[in-house]
Amino acid sequence: MRNINEVQKRSIVKDYQQMETGNGRVKTGIYGLDKLINGGIPKGNIVLVSGAAGTGKTLFALEYIYRGAKEFNENGVYLSLEETPERLVQTAQNFGFSDIEDLLRAGRINLLRSEVYDLETLTNKIEDSIDRVNAKRVVIDSISVLSAFTDNQLLVRRTIMDISNMIREHGCTSIFTGSMKKINNGSELGVSTEEYVVDGVIALFHKLIGNSFYRSIGIIKMRETAHSEVLHPLQIVNKGLRILPPDLLPKSDNRISEKITRHYQHIRQNYSDDEGVILPLAEV
Ligand SMILES: Nc1ncnc2c1ncn2[C@@H]1O[C@H](COP(=O)(O)OP(=O)(O)O)[C@@H](O)[C@H]1O
Ligand SMILES: [Mg+2]
Repeated sequence: MRNINEVQKRSIVKDYQQMETGNGRVKTGIYGLDKLINGGIPKGNIVLVSGAAGTGKTLFALEYIYRGAKEFNENGVYLSLEETPERLVQTAQNFGFSDIEDLLRAGRINLLRSEVYDLETLTNKIEDSIDRVNAKRVVIDSISVLSAFTDNQLLVRRTIMDISNMIREHGCTSIFTGSMKKINNGSELGVSTEEYVVDGVIALFHKLIGNSFYRSIGIIKMRETAHSEVLHPLQIVNKGLRILPPDLLPKSDNRISEKITRHYQHIRQNYSDDEGVILPLAEV
């Protein structure tokens, strides 16, 4: 076999690293997700993580910021418009992100509290925070809340545009959480203000099958990406989110027997994070 020289060796290592990091991609670090989107979110993009209350949007966003700082050396800004930083830290710690306070102290994550009654100053506030920690990742949780602060929807739209442009200028890769309108009995997804400005949309659902809800996730849109187009099961476990192969989501036409439902209930009560086990969210 031909000996390879140092230059060739370095080039192979570089190729490998690019493959690992997905060239020009920002890994979410969320279990099972990055391989569904060609290795990660295209660098500099804004992705809307959309879903009803309790679908896991905040946990998704928090894990994205935490893993960025912890595993990928990418500092992050988290603007919460719904929860206090104290509550977010508590949530993070519940998920085993126990060193989040160290990351906060070290200036690698900035949790930004906002009383955003003044939309005019919001963009500057976020920008200051990005500069302070040299952020590569930004979260706004949730962007839909902005509409609640004023009747002036034009101002809301302008603010979202301003924030988006500013974030892009800083080269940050971002997650906005929000709700997406449903039309036609929920069978089609409609378009809301925030969807105009984002490059990607990931939707979180409570899928009703039999008499249980199952958490699921779908990639609706991801620029420059050949992505999965089916629903995948989503679990919330003690280490964060887990996205599983689509065939593990029960088909809606398969009736789930009482016995299986009881079995799932048992697993849920006794808590398991075994791979491949689908946990129903709730009985209805
Ligand atoms: N430790 C946990 N183990 C399993 N599920 C949890 C845990 N903590 C929270 N959850 C689930 O996550 C949900 C909240 O997720 P969250 O990200 O706050 O939703 P959203 O931001 O979409 O409203 C809760 O309603 C609960 O069902
Ligand atoms: Mg939330």
